[in-house]
Amino acid sequence: MPALAVVKAANAKFAPAYLPVALFVGGTSGIGQSMAEAFARYTKGNAHIIICGRNRTAGESIIAKFPKPTVSSPSGAPLHEFVQCDATLMKNVGVTTSDLLARLPKLNFLVLSQGALNVQGRSETEEGIDKKLALNHYSRFKFINDLLPLLQKAADAGEDAKAMSVLGAGHAGKIDVNDLGLKKGYGLTAAALGAATYNDCMVEEFGARNPSIAFTHIYPGVVRTPIFGRMHWTMALLSPILMGVLYPFTVSSADCAEYMLYALLNGDKGAFRKDNHAEDLGEKGYYVTDEARKAVWEHTLALTKA
Ligand SMILES: *[C@@H]1O[C@H](CO)[C@@H](O)[C@H](O)[C@H]1NC(C)=O
Repeated sequence: MPALAVVKAANAKFAPAYLPVALFVGGTSGIGQSMAEAFARYTKGNAHIIICGRNRTAGESIIAKFPKPTVSSPSGAPLHEFVQCDATLMKNVGVTTSDLLARLPKLNFLVLSQGALNVQGRSETEEGIDKKLALNHYSRFKFINDLLPLLQKAADAGEDAKAMSVLGAGHAGKIDVNDLGLKKGYGLTAAALGAATYNDCMVEEFGARNPSIAFTHIYPGVVRTPIFGRMHWTMALLSPILMGVLYPFTVSSADCAEYMLYALLNGDKGAFRKDNHAEDLGEKGYYVTDEARKAVWEHTLALTKA
């Protein structure tokens, strides 16, 4: 595993010959926020950075602390912006992606880290999708799928074209192809392990269909973020004690972001599953079958259509 100092030094060398466009969905808190901040710092603010999330106050205050750009956007639009979207609803994601498709010339980096904030059991949105799965899988798929033309434009120009889902690579489980979306077999464990396998299927299929773009599913590790204590009900109850005991095994959001950014910037073309130290997982915690990949693709495409 590369040491943190090595990873930071590599990230600091990021100096693209073009003006990068990066979208951080879920960038208003936690790992997404730390990744957006690190990206802004390493590009010295000279990047078009879009933070997308629910909380405008949070998004705008994060942006206010970015280094100020010394270049301007070709279109004259502000280089750092917040875009509001509640990604639990696919129709909201559609509104956001239509807006971005209409005005962005390309997209170099797409980072998806929107997380579920509730620990209840299955709770359906008006679109009939479980909220946790909507954030952890369906909305991520829809952002990538809708914005593929922008990623492709970046790839065609010989620039970075990279999508990354920060979730649970290597921490996955078997899925039931006859119960995708978990209408029958819902449980917090099934939802978490299932979403990770759905994400594995997703990056593999996108990678196979779009060979000039990188698609990575990565595991952030146990990060000290506001949702740490809400990951599981037992953790929620024991959180203060657990935090004391587990603290040495946890990582700050800022340090985690360095590894995530390292994996993002150095991703090759194709599909990847990586661990919290940006290392390839190989077959570890891998439950994808040809049948599962095809079923997840068709199911997700159907549920995320306009
Ligand atoms: C939005 O973010 C602000 C600033 O971080 C915070 O004070 C506020 O509680 C957040 N609102 C919600 C609804 O989470």
